[in-house]
Parts: sequence; structure tokens; C-alpha cells
Amino acid sequence: MAMLGYPEPALTNAVVALRPWGNSDAESLAAAWDDAQIQATCGVPASRTTTDAERWISGHLKRASSQRAIDLVITDDDGRVVRGEVGLGPFDQEHRAAMVGFWIGADYRGCGYASAAVGLVASWVFAQGLTTLVAQTTADNIGSIGVLQAAGFRLLDAHETTGAQRWIRQTPDGEAT
Ligand SMILES: CC(C)(COP(=O)(O)OP(=O)(O)OC[C@H]1O[C@@H](n2cnc3c(N)ncnc32)[C@H](O)[C@@H]1OP(=O)(O)O)[C@@H](O)C(=O)NCCC(=O)NCCS
Repeated sequence: MAMLGYPEPALTNAVVALRPWGNSDAESLAAAWDDAQIQATCGVPASRTTTDAERWISGHLKRASSQRAIDLVITDDDGRVVRGEVGLGPFDQEHRAAMVGFWIGADYRGCGYASAAVGLVASWVFAQGLTTLVAQTTADNIGSIGVLQAAGFRLLDAHETTGAQRWIRQTPDGEAT
């Protein structure tokens, strides 16, 4: 699998545009880290000031070049408003696989943005040679399950006690491996 960089040209469709994080997004990112639902479902740092967000954003090129993560802001046509994030990583080079995660800011939920962003990223990574995308969620996260279903994922396995679930989307090549 070739190294993945940020998509060029930037990914966009009728619903969302995706771009890397920029310095001017720090306040929006810090606000998202303070959202209770995002805290409950996604990893957020213990310290979540705008300065912390600036520091995290400043590491994005390094995270991408070391193939730890490619995180994309879900935004609108002119790229200004941070509606959410779709992130790839970690990557499994051997199996041409990656994890995908996502969140949408409270003001922007229920508009189809997450499904559109995850679908767009999935088509792009498969065109880059990945064959498998996996997402983790829990049985009680109805919104997340709705997004994964809308983006073409199927349930891979579910833990009866904890409710933890893994969802998968594969190309025909991925299914053969
Ligand atoms: C889960 C989350 C990403 C959904 O984002 P969104 O942009 O509102 O989702 P979409 O509008 O694309 O919805 C996709 C589908 O799920 C359904 N859905 C979304 N949120 C829902 C909710 N809270 N309850 C029931 N259904 C919901 C939608 O109706 C839609 O269904 P459809 O395809 O049949 O029309 C967003 O609520 C969020 O960020 N939550 C907190 C963080 C989180 O849970 N991230 C996922 C971690 S695994």
C-alpha cells in the first residue's frame, strides 16, 4: 500500500467539503472537545483549551507523514465553518486497512454531513489502494450506526456485555484476503 497523504485535489461532493485542519480552526476544535457526546464517543485530550487545540493542529502534518492519522475537517463550500471531522488511522499496511472515526458539531447534526463525509473518504481510500475500512462504535450510538449503514458498512462483530461494535466496509479485493 502506498503512503497516503492529504487528498489532492481536496475531496468534495454536493453535501460536504473536506480539508486539513488549519490554525484558525483551534477555537472550533476546542469547542468540539468540550461537547459531552464527542467526549463520550471519541478520544479527546484531558486539557482542551484553544492553545491545546492549536498545538494539536500544528502536529497534523507530522501525524500524516508518519501515517499515524489523516484527519480532515468536514466543512462547507468555502471551507470556513468547521462542521465536524472525519479521521483515518491507525493504518494496517499489510492488510491495506485503516480505521475511520468521525464527529459532527452539535449545531450541525442530522443534516447528512457525517454520512456524506464518511462515504467520500471511503471512496477515496479505496481508490488509493486500501481494501478495508473499520469503524468502532457502541450499540447505543444510534447516530453513529446510522452513519455507518448509510456509508455502506456492515456489522463485523459486537460484544454482548460492553455493547462495543466493529463495522467494516471492504472492496471485493479486501473480501478475498
Ligand atoms: C453520530 C454523528 C456523527 C452523526 O452525524 P450526523 O451528521 O448527524 O449523521 P447523518 O445526518 O449523516 O445521519 C446518518 C443517518 O443516521 C441517522 N441518525 C443520525 N443521528 C441520529 C440520532 N441521534 N438518532 C437516530 N438516528 C440518527 C440519520 O437519520 C441518518 O439516517 P438515514 O441515512 O436513514 O437518513 C453525530 O451525532 C455525532 O458527532 N455524535 C457525537 C460523536 C459520535 O458519536 N461520533 C461517532 C463515534 S463512533
